Amino acid sequence: MDKSTLFVSLEPCCFHGKTPACTDLILRERIPKVVIASLDETPEVAGKGVELLRNAGVEVVTGICASQTNLPSDIRNVFVSKKRPYIQLKFAQSVDGYMGTPGKQVWLSNQFSQVLAHKGRAEFDSILVGTNTALTDDPALTNRHWFGKSPLRIVLDRHRRLPSNLQLLQGGATTWVVTQKMLAGDESNDLLRFLELDFDEHLLENLMGLLFENRITSLIVEGGAFTILQFLQKNLWDEAVIFTTPARLGEGILAPTPMGREVAKYQLGKDALTILRNAVDCR
Ligand SMILES: NC(=O)c1ccc[n+]([C@@H]2O[C@H](COP(=O)([O-])OP(=O)(O)OC[C@H]3O[C@@H](n4cnc5c(N)ncnc54)[C@H](OP(=O)(O)O)[C@@H]3O)[C@@H](O)[C@H]2O)c1
Repeated sequence: MDKSTLFVSLEPCCFHGKTPACTDLILRERIPKVVIASLDETPEVAGKGVELLRNAGVEVVTGICASQTNLPSDIRNVFVSKKRPYIQLKFAQSVDGYMGTPGKQVWLSNQFSQVLAHKGRAEFDSILVGTNTALTDDPALTNRHWFGKSPLRIVLDRHRRLPSNLQLLQGGATTWVVTQKMLAGDESNDLLRFLELDFDEHLLENLMGLLFENRITSLIVEGGAFTILQFLQKNLWDEAVIFTTPARLGEGILAPTPMGREVAKYQLGKDALTILRNAVDCR
């Protein structure tokens, strides 16, 4: 091993938790060079893994691909440092800046963006929508176009306006219904859980705290516009994934405009995909 270079996405840990320290293994195997994409913000590590290796004579290179997304490491770092899930705001908009038409389902994605959206569902622990989106679009929010699991589905339903025949409430994956007051007949089971929370100004922080307690490390906020705006106003977001289609709606529900740093832009057929990172909290 003494001629090899180890490439890792996250700083090797230097403490014995559920498993022994990675740095011990690196030193025992006499690996002379380690290249690290992201530092680990867990308080027990936070640069100490690098320091320990350097002190032991290992050449350590950090900051590789720093401007690119390193999703697993970013999710972990947000979760341990902010004690909330990593939050992705995801929406599709027409080229003239609308997300939809009130009370009517409008498709603003092509087959490529749909596959990518489902890949995201496989990679993220949970996905959330507002009440109007659940009512208008009746989305299943399961992962059907990529391999792997479906995320935990979360729907806001302050006044229990959602009828029980919605796909979200009909199995297929686990759903949490967040409400201000449960109804008499509301009963949680393996696939459906009712959660009572105060719908006050701390709702989203309290919900994120609950997700943290349940070790849900990542969340996609899939709309609608009102719900995404609530997250933006609280600066509760880490990245925004925006699909822009060439269609023009002319009027309707205005898409939000997250003030982020553009980190990637791709063309997916006729759709454009833009990825923004939260500029207030760049890492
Ligand atoms: N293009 C896309 O990517 C996309 C994605 C999703 C949806 N859509 C479209 O967007 C439209 C729906 O968007 P929308 O903006 O009207 O509604 P929405 O965000 O789906 O739902 C808004 C409702 O959810 C509840 N809510 C959400 N966040 C809350 C918070 N922080 N505190 C309290 N209540 C909260 C409130 O219900 P109460 O009023 O009952 O309290 C609020 O009126 C639909 O037409 C849908 O087709 C488009």
